[in-house]
Amino acid sequence: MKTLLCVTAMLAISSPAAAIAEAPPLPTTGRDLAAACAICHGTNGWSAGGRLPNLAGQPEEYLVKQMRDFRDGNRPATIMTQIAKGYTEEQYQLMAAFLASQKTR
Ligand code: HEC
Repeated sequence: MKTLLCVTAMLAISSPAAAIAEAPPLPTTGRDLAAACAICHGTNGWSAGGRLPNLAGQPEEYLVKQMRDFRDGNRPATIMTQIAKGYTEEQYQLMAAFLASQKTR
């Protein structure tokens, strides 16, 4: 009986539907959302190396417009087209407000 329970539990865990149902809630603050951008744009959007555009301290409206332009194909890009499509308007606003408020040191 224990083995059967164990197998059932393993099947439940490995099924994609179960994985989606049990996924943790997505971040809701600009800071937490923008954490996903740090791998390329630097901590809090400050891209110290200068190879990728710095986002920290850029005007909020500018950042939101770039995301819309990437999403809609109005600004050619290598990777940002795909990334921008993964977020809602509200999430653009939250991330932009956070990034705009960051110091560029
Ligand atoms: C895999 C690396 C990568 C990640 C992750 C990433 N970006 Fe980008 N970002 C780029 C690159 C590269 C560019 C230059 C445009 C292009 O080629 O896509 C760019 C450009 C931008 C620009 C334009 C900046 C300017 O000065 O005009 C904005 C705004 C932006 N990214 C926002 C974000 C946000 C917000 C996130 C997180 C949700 C994010 N990026 C995540 C690589 C990345």
